[in-house]
Amino acid sequence: MSIDANRKMTLRRIRSFVRREGRLTKGQQRALNELFPTYGITLQQGALDFDALFGRQASRILEIGFGNGASLAQMASNHPENDYLGIEVHRPGVGNLLLQIEKLELTNIRISSDDAVEVLEQQIPDALLDAVYLFFPDPWHKKKHHKRRIVQPAFAQLIHRKLKPGGIFHMATDWENYAEHMLEVMTAADGFQNTAPEGKYIARPEYRPLTKFEQRGHRLGHGVWDLIFKKIT
Ligand SMILES: C[S@@+](CC[C@H](N)C(=O)[O-])C[C@H]1O[C@@H](n2cnc3c(N)ncnc32)[C@H](O)[C@@H]1O
Repeated sequence: MSIDANRKMTLRRIRSFVRREGRLTKGQQRALNELFPTYGITLQQGALDFDALFGRQASRILEIGFGNGASLAQMASNHPENDYLGIEVHRPGVGNLLLQIEKLELTNIRISSDDAVEVLEQQIPDALLDAVYLFFPDPWHKKKHHKRRIVQPAFAQLIHRKLKPGGIFHMATDWENYAEHMLEVMTAADGFQNTAPEGKYIARPEYRPLTKFEQRGHRLGHGVWDLIFKKIT
């Protein structure tokens, strides 16, 4: 292998997703064409000025991997006093959230469709965020794929850098082995404190909407684990 090819290999980061384009509905395609220029941000914009982006100062909350955006739209609608940045690489989900922004006339959401790790590294100023939400990230069930899980020691430190002192990192998963992995990584991470009274998991806080998928899981007796870690130093 040439030195260049070798270098490329070592620089290629393991990603937490596989980009599947999926089929866009007509509505999602229209929303991407017409609304993304207003509500969307791209990596080309470089470091973001949140005051300019939202036209005000407010609590700043980041949701990573918002899926179809139902929870994010609901949270933004319930909490007009907060500003939300949502990141999702799956474009039909981005189109779907844009449609909800239009329908609910939300002014407090901006969207990125790039890799959250790159957006955090390149676009979000340090010590800016009041909270980071990571709800039901891809669990990568098979052991050989665990390295693709987004929650890893380096990711914990990246989140730490972007949070304000006292800011929180809220994770939720329905996969027990991933919950244990999150607990292990976050407990070992410097500068965080687990907010759970027993030092493990907490009950779902009221601001995290109960998704349809989760309701179905409840009926089938499946578990869900919420973890909230606070930046203390
Ligand atoms: C299992 S889904 C959960 C979606 C949603 N949070 C929910 O609760 O229904 C995980 C989502 O995270 C997105 N995702 C994974 N890694 C990502 C990354 N590095 N940046 C942005 N989105 C990512 C995937 O595209 C997928 O839509």
